[in-house]
Amino acid sequence: MISLAFLFLALSLRPRAAKGWSIPFEPREATIDSVHRALFYQNVSCRQIVQSFLDRIDAYDQKGPAIDSMIAVSPHALTYAGELDAQLADVSFSPGPMFCVPIVLKDNYMTFDQPTTAGCLALKSAQAYNDAPVVARLRAAGAIILGKANMNEFALTGLSDSSLGGQVKNPYDLTRTPGGSSGGTGAAVAASFAVWGTGTDTVNSIRSPTSANSLVGLRPTRGLITREGIIPLGYTQDAIGPLGRTTRDVALALDVMVGPSKGDNVSALGVPFIQTNYENALVGGALPGLRIGVVDALIGNNTSNETTIVNDVFAEVLVKLEQAGAVIVYITDPSLAQQTVLNNYDVENWEFRQELDTFLQSGLFSYLPYDSFEAIYASGLWLPGDEAVPPWVAAQTPAVFNTLAPQYLAKLAAIEQFRIQLAATFETNNVGVLFYPHQQNLVVPISVNASQTGRNGILAAVSGYPAIGVPGGFSPPTETAPIGIPIGVEFLGRPFQEMQLLNVAYSFEQMNRARKAPLSTWNSVP
Ligand SMILES: *[C@@H]1O[C@H](CO)[C@@H](O)[C@H](O)[C@H]1NC(C)=O
Ligand SMILES: *[C@@H]1O[C@H](CO)[C@@H](O)[C@H](O)[C@H]1NC(C)=O
Ligand SMILES: *[C@@H]1O[C@H](CO)[C@@H](O)[C@H](O)[C@H]1NC(C)=O
Ligand SMILES: *[C@@H]1O[C@H](CO)[C@@H](O)[C@H](O)[C@H]1NC(C)=O
Ligand SMILES: *[C@@H]1O[C@H](CO)[C@@H](O)[C@H](O)[C@H]1NC(C)=O
Ligand SMILES: *[C@@H]1O[C@H](CO)[C@@H](O)[C@H](O)[C@H]1NC(C)=O
Repeated sequence: MISLAFLFLALSLRPRAAKGWSIPFEPREATIDSVHRALFYQNVSCRQIVQSFLDRIDAYDQKGPAIDSMIAVSPHALTYAGELDAQLADVSFSPGPMFCVPIVLKDNYMTFDQPTTAGCLALKSAQAYNDAPVVARLRAAGAIILGKANMNEFALTGLSDSSLGGQVKNPYDLTRTPGGSSGGTGAAVAASFAVWGTGTDTVNSIRSPTSANSLVGLRPTRGLITREGIIPLGYTQDAIGPLGRTTRDVALALDVMVGPSKGDNVSALGVPFIQTNYENALVGGALPGLRIGVVDALIGNNTSNETTIVNDVFAEVLVKLEQAGAVIVYITDPSLAQQTVLNNYDVENWEFRQELDTFLQSGLFSYLPYDSFEAIYASGLWLPGDEAVPPWVAAQTPAVFNTLAPQYLAKLAAIEQFRIQLAATFETNNVGVLFYPHQQNLVVPISVNASQTGRNGILAAVSGYPAIGVPGGFSPPTETAPIGIPIGVEFLGRPFQEMQLLNVAYSFEQMNRARKAPLSTWNSVP
């Protein structure tokens, strides 16, 4: 096990609250720091904190606006909270950095105490023996897992619909998707059902719900965080990371998540680059003099009411960045257009079936109803609509789509060249980050056969470079979106430069201050 930076809070600083003095905890827009203030200085118990989030889930996830962000609420959360309260009563106890922080896990993260389903009916009740290593780290640091978040089935695309969990709604506009595939996590965090949550990202899947829910979400450099114990989509492109409401919470989450494990050999690549206390990078001041490479080919040129507003918000953001002293450098390279990059380098179609089968057949589950793609497919217990999604389609012709296919090997070689091309793009333009809107259009409405078009996540996905989504702004209000629809922007950094990337995001967040909470879940829950 690796140098997991284990930051202990200075419990000794904990003052004794006056007898009987405690103030109610406010879960809405709560942060890791606000949870800890309540616990350590305001005599709020961990049970009270956890209950306040469970009450919000109860009021809003299946009732009221019925966001449907959760596949399964944990039956153990309050018990765990009670255990933490007991630990706190011991003055010699040092709480971990996530002590009593309520989080949700995308339901492709294995947990020993709840099923792990990837949203698929065929995997209903599938029970893993163990936590994924990252989940174990989070628990060891004190996090309280409130439950498993709904997701796009098998993380295949960006709608966040699943045969087991149904369609997640965007809390800002209940007629729209929340982006995806980590859309259950995105909606749950936006609605303050949890302080933060985990996602996975094979093409766009952390950053799309980040954009659609006015959040901050990090796709780390390939190899920085082990993916062991996460239901795979593709070895080359899969990454996992946190989604939060603030850059600081994302940095604190990263502290706990980073590190390798034996079951993911790629994670060995990150070991020399692991930093401790990523939040220490958040000193601000990153914008003056920063050369920002705006990727021209990732800015859409359609003129519809669903696209021009994105460009308007992005243009406003560029003006603000220049006013803050950043230097905007336009990078005009048509080979960076999303469709070109997807066509040339995306390899998930060749990897999905093989990897899913290997994962399901590795003896990780004590109960597993179907243990291969073929068996799941034959069961019919999957989402109608998957049949139009490329990796699901490809998985039906394993003779063509496999990891020995010449086309696949050629793409892997091309990806190596693309990594060099991106490095050269940074170098020749002398830029610190690349920058673009996450999606060229507003997140799409819920509809039969919807397609989450226009997303720009592919550059980071195939190169393995890190990227972070930050709230850019909102579209004007509509009848169904009372404060407008969130529009996210994305910074892409050099490999293993998470410290710099986080401070750019933080400096931008502090300057732009675009995050707003959704109205559909805003009323306090008694
Ligand atoms: C903390 O609050 C509990 C009730 O929630 C109360 O019984 C206890 O006396 C309080 N402790 C202090 C030190 O104020
Ligand atoms: C890394 O692990 C994968 C399986 O996850 C395996 O296919 C691959 O051969 C391994 N690579 C090396 C270099 O060990
Ligand atoms: C619109 O954008 C696409 C993709 O970047 C590009 O191929 C096309 O040339 C652009 N069209 C115009 C009119 O600018
Ligand atoms: C764009 O126009 C369509 C068709 O009139 C409408 O359904 C949609 O809500 C509009 N989008 C926005 C963001 O106003
Ligand atoms: C959705 O797609 C399916 C299969 O591609 C097709 O049969 C069906 O007619 C489509 N439905 C709508 C409403 O477009
Ligand atoms: C732009 O328009 C083209 C052609 O109509 C369409 O295929 C594409 O999905 C649109 N892109 C966005 C982001 O709306």
